[in-house]
Amino acid sequence: MRKFARELKFDEIESEQTRRLVKDMVQTMHELGGIGLAAPQIGESVQLAVIEIPPNSERYPHRDPFPLSVLINPRVRVIDKTEQEFWEGCLSIPNLRGLVVRPRQISVDYLDHKGESRNIVVEDFLATVVQHELDHLLGVLFIDRVRDTTKLATDDEYVRYWMEEPPLETTG
Ligand code: NI
Repeated sequence: MRKFARELKFDEIESEQTRRLVKDMVQTMHELGGIGLAAPQIGESVQLAVIEIPPNSERYPHRDPFPLSVLINPRVRVIDKTEQEFWEGCLSIPNLRGLVVRPRQISVDYLDHKGESRNIVVEDFLATVVQHELDHLLGVLFIDRVRDTTKLATDDEYVRYWMEEPPLETTG
């Protein structure tokens, strides 16, 4: 699992095997309520990840939607290295969250599910989501990037101590 995934060859991209892999990954991501999944997470060590932030997501109601995208053989370039922090979790590490620092804006060159060259520039929350997924392809997990281990928490601890508190009611 924790190794550098291999690139997909061009003729593999439109193969039945890859189509089935993408379908399995999208289904798994939906079932688990995630917003991204990388092939190594389901045991396929290839450079392929899917990302989708659905509109009106229950889990991420305040985030901009991002259409279902298949990223193959991605290359990341940092555009704005200003650091940003988000609490991250991972479908491969249940019940753990950590505060991770990453660059604020990146550009990604990749091939889509049809093998066509594409580029996206993403920033803020989406930049973190994309970097988290593409890290899986390098054998890197978010816990490797947590700088301050006091900012590692179980889901319960996260909700209790770290989640933004709702505005307090004033009772006169
Ligand atoms: Ni993950």
